[in-house]
Amino acid sequence: MSVKKIVKYGAISLREKSKEVHKISKKVQILVEDLYDTLYALNGVGLAAPQIGENLRVFVIDVGTDPKTMNPITFINPKILKKEGAVNSYEGCLSFPDAYTNVRRYKYVKVKALDIKGRPFILEADEGSLLARAIQHEFDHLDGILFIDHSRNRFEADKILMDKGLNPIDTKYLLDEKEMEEEIQKNPQSEEKPVD
Ligand code: NI
Repeated sequence: MSVKKIVKYGAISLREKSKEVHKISKKVQILVEDLYDTLYALNGVGLAAPQIGENLRVFVIDVGTDPKTMNPITFINPKILKKEGAVNSYEGCLSFPDAYTNVRRYKYVKVKALDIKGRPFILEADEGSLLARAIQHEFDHLDGILFIDHSRNRFEADKILMDKGLNPIDTKYLLDEKEMEEEIQKNPQSEEKPVD
């Protein structure tokens, strides 16, 4: 299969809601292979179908750090069953080259999805883990939500975006996460490995 070109921030398709997969066709199988080829070529942690130009509800994650610990997980038509707590997450995104900022994420998520064979599975991600944060980041892409929408400090995020030659934040997309912010401030966490 092949390494695809990443759709970059600014493209309207990154703001669209993706469609459910009705059948795991050959086309969907190729899409998943392309997602992995592109993810590994770019050394990412996760990649969602809209980022390679397919507005379908599919994403892949691999939080393994080297070939020995590879742990690819494919999510088709994912649903978040449960989300709890709040943490600071220092994130980037392959659609935003070299731009990282602090965002709010739930600490824990429980997700249901189909695998590449169409078999349902349920996954619980450990509290505050890279996997928990990556699932939320990639899931958002399917609804046209981007990590910067969760920015804890939009002025800091704007500065980082503009330093990288990217458009500043469009405030209409900023999410109101007051309760999460309060919880993060009550329990400050150390910064972890960036999610992208
Ligand atoms: Ni992303």
